[in-house]
Amino acid sequence: MEVVIGVADDLAVLAAETIEAQLRRRPESVLGLATGSSPLKVYEELIRRHRETGLSFSRARGFLLDEYVGLPAEHPQRYRRVIAEKLVDHLDWPADQVVGPDGLAESLPRACTEYEEAIAEAGGVDIQLLGIGSDGHIAFNEPMSSLTSRTRVKSLTRQTRQDNARFFGGNPALVPGHCLTQGLGTITEARHLILLATGSEKTEAVHQLVEGPVSARWPATIMQHHPHVTVLVDEGAASHLE
Ligand code: F6R
Repeated sequence: MEVVIGVADDLAVLAAETIEAQLRRRPESVLGLATGSSPLKVYEELIRRHRETGLSFSRARGFLLDEYVGLPAEHPQRYRRVIAEKLVDHLDWPADQVVGPDGLAESLPRACTEYEEAIAEAGGVDIQLLGIGSDGHIAFNEPMSSLTSRTRVKSLTRQTRQDNARFFGGNPALVPGHCLTQGLGTITEARHLILLATGSEKTEAVHQLVEGPVSARWPATIMQHHPHVTVLVDEGAASHLE
């Protein structure tokens, strides 16, 4: 596991550089996309590179980590809509080449199985961007998630609904109680994991991720078993690292 401590803008450039190198090497690469605040600067940097240097996404595929269950298609916090607004709509990336688990599916378990199949059919994820929750979740694999889990329906903890209330007018009751999420087993099959964390509310989660024992109590710790992980953190998030 490589840990880089820096300022947020530089961390975003590092992540974008890695994605650009991957796309230039293999334009049909498969990118794993996170939502939430952590990757936003990376997305801004990728859009800049697309505009200024012609970085192309036209042959790439994209897979979202997760999706809320039950949010209507037009809801501003639906992750498919968020990723379109923050990234895809600003690139030459055909919208149908970026997909997420279907939180509106009639059969959610079937949607999860089909999502796993779609990732496998695309050849697996080359680079997976990740944020981390203050409770150590990645995607929506909350504490005590199975370390080998696959894409499935999960309920969100009170902590995560509280953390995400800022996207729902500050009201945790408006944050959906359930989501579809790639499992820890799914995520760790990606060939390169890049996790971004900034701010002091991530300090304990980053400490556990890098220095704690591997444990379902802090789901991100499973990344310690992965051969190619880059952790990009600012001073605030890194302040409990030894
Ligand atoms: C979002 C996701 C979540 C977030 C995490 C951190 O797709 O999978 O695991 O990465 O909740 O959220 P932010 O970046 O908003 O602090």
